[in-house]
Amino acid sequence: MSDIKVLVAGSGGQLGSELQRTVPAGVTLLAPPEVGFDLTDAAQVQSLINSLDPDWIINAAAYTAVDKAEEDPDSAYAVNRDGAGLLASAAASSGARLLHISTDFVFNGQKGSPYLVGDQPDPLGVYGASKQAGDEVVSKILGDRCAIIRTAWVYSSLGNNFVKTMLRLMGERDQLGIVADQIGSPTWANSLARACWRAVLSDLSGMHHWTDAGVASWYDFAVAIHEEASALGLLPKPCVVKPIRTEDYPTPAARPAYSVLDKTPTWQALGLEGEHWRSALRKMLAEL
Ligand SMILES: NC(=O)c1ccc[n+]([C@@H]2O[C@H](COP(=O)([O-])OP(=O)(O)OC[C@H]3O[C@@H](n4cnc5c(N)ncnc54)[C@H](OP(=O)(O)O)[C@@H]3O)[C@@H](O)[C@H]2O)c1
Repeated sequence: MSDIKVLVAGSGGQLGSELQRTVPAGVTLLAPPEVGFDLTDAAQVQSLINSLDPDWIINAAAYTAVDKAEEDPDSAYAVNRDGAGLLASAAASSGARLLHISTDFVFNGQKGSPYLVGDQPDPLGVYGASKQAGDEVVSKILGDRCAIIRTAWVYSSLGNNFVKTMLRLMGERDQLGIVADQIGSPTWANSLARACWRAVLSDLSGMHHWTDAGVASWYDFAVAIHEEASALGLLPKPCVVKPIRTEDYPTPAARPAYSVLDKTPTWQALGLEGEHWRSALRKMLAEL
């Protein structure tokens, strides 16, 4: 049987990079990393997909600057809604399937128990709203020829993320105050990439949730980063991590207070269960 040909949009991001590191047997990755393509350029997207003729497209590209999106909604919508729509239309005309990645930020965080795939989105900010709009466009264009995976709190050894920021600040300061009243599930981009490949290999369709297992507040996550990084000798000195409230750390974009996603049906569909976030964190830190 011939390999499944897969094109990754956003191959330079956290997820895109991990997708390239974890390509499974039976898959040929089409675009080499240096060949980017701009999701806001309709002609470029269409001609690249026509010429490469992928079986699957994974959309790991997004406008992910959550706070900046509040003052620049046009840019967020251009990539997260319109760019996703362009990819979906190109996929529809070429016969490719699409795996699109979305976010826990489509929810308002008021539920208090893990969000099910069918729960009503109610984004609190521009980023979440633009991603939700992208999900709707993609589903409308491709129906069951696409799968959407919502994920959350993504970090990796590459790029800017909470883990990297914490390591830097813990090296610079003696004390840090970290928000303790927002709860979610930290997710290593490597785990997410493996789930994406499983989704492609199993022809997944419909809406799904994937994060690493377990829950944490940002404070819990920071304490774990401190402990694990110290054990690995990555921090030059001690740093006290203290819990603070969201109102003590105001940001331009509101975040959901509780954004744990229910993964049970996805874990069953993929035959793959998420690892606990703390063991995934340990593995990521060991790479640094
Ligand atoms: N990071 C999180 O905590 C998180 C949480 C929930 C869901 N997600 C979702 O997970 C997916 C992957 O996120 P990530 O953390 O890997 O994001 P990331 O590291 O910010 O990477 C996003 C990638 O998209 C590319 N991109 C942006 N605008 C583009 C455009 N117009 N055309 C083509 N590429 C463009 C970026 O390229 P440049 O760097 O060159 O701009 C970058 O390579 C996204 O759908 C995101 O919404 C992320």
